[in-house]
Amino acid sequence: MPYENIIVETREKVGFIQLNRPQALNALNSALLAELTEALEAFDKDDNIGAIVLTGSEKAFAAGADIKEMLSLHFADAYLGDYFSEWERVTRIRKPLIAAVAGYALGGGCELAMMCDFIIAADTAKFGQPEITLGVMPGMGGSQRLTRFVGKSKSMDMCLTGRMMDAAEAERSGLVSRVVPAGDLIGEAMRAAGKIASFSLPVVMMTKETVNRAYETTLAEGLRFERRVFHSMFALDDQHEGMSAFAEKRAPNFKNR
Ligand code: CAA
Repeated sequence: MPYENIIVETREKVGFIQLNRPQALNALNSALLAELTEALEAFDKDDNIGAIVLTGSEKAFAAGADIKEMLSLHFADAYLGDYFSEWERVTRIRKPLIAAVAGYALGGGCELAMMCDFIIAADTAKFGQPEITLGVMPGMGGSQRLTRFVGKSKSMDMCLTGRMMDAAEAERSGLVSRVVPAGDLIGEAMRAAGKIASFSLPVVMMTKETVNRAYETTLAEGLRFERRVFHSMFALDDQHEGMSAFAEKRAPNFKNR
């Protein structure tokens, strides 16, 4: 279907999605959610895609959930419809998903960036959970994911005061993996995604799954899981190819098998 709220492109082995509601600073409404999850799931199923980049505009990655859509929401509707639960579909994408963030990433925008596997930020990026200023609190994962990223003290500060964090503070706090000049943001994210897409896809996907396990389990269980997944990689032709290529001083030719 043609998309109205996002722009979707395939660039070699990288799926590229740009949020595109400029008139609302990419506020996340239901229509955008439906399109974004459909596009992400299509890339996830596409054998030619090895990684995905998600970005917004220069001014805003996304300025939050759509406040105008929520304005008349009643508790019963929110509860019965399990409002925001559909966003969890983003976290079920199995291929690496990189958020390339410039400008505002506020409320649901910050939460969407945190659902991605890592965040590359432009030096113009501003992160925040300002829901408290609207009489609510984060509802798309901010209270939990931000706390895991930056720790209790800074997460409390952000969620309780609603203040914004600039890109330098976000990098210092571990929220983003790298900060680049705004003009290089898409190039840097596409290069990172292209690099990932050049590796063995099953190994990439198992690596993502295993790192994510660190957030869901104890250290002992996580280490056991890692070892078992590591062992299983020796069933792949790509393990033999990668190590042979190293020994033979040539580039590997991974077949995703
Ligand atoms: N929802 C709906 N519309 C939004 C929006 C949002 N989250 N953020 C911005 N917009 C709209 C504005 O209403 C405005 O539309 P109009 O031109 O029709 O009035 C347009 O986008 C441009 O915004 P501004 O004129 O406000 O732009 P600015 O440069 O002066 O300010 C801003 C930028 C500081 C980001 C400001 O827009 C702002 O504070 N936005 C709201 C941020 C926010 O509170 N986000 C949290 C939302 S709640 C949430 O996300 C819940 C959750 O946990 C998931």
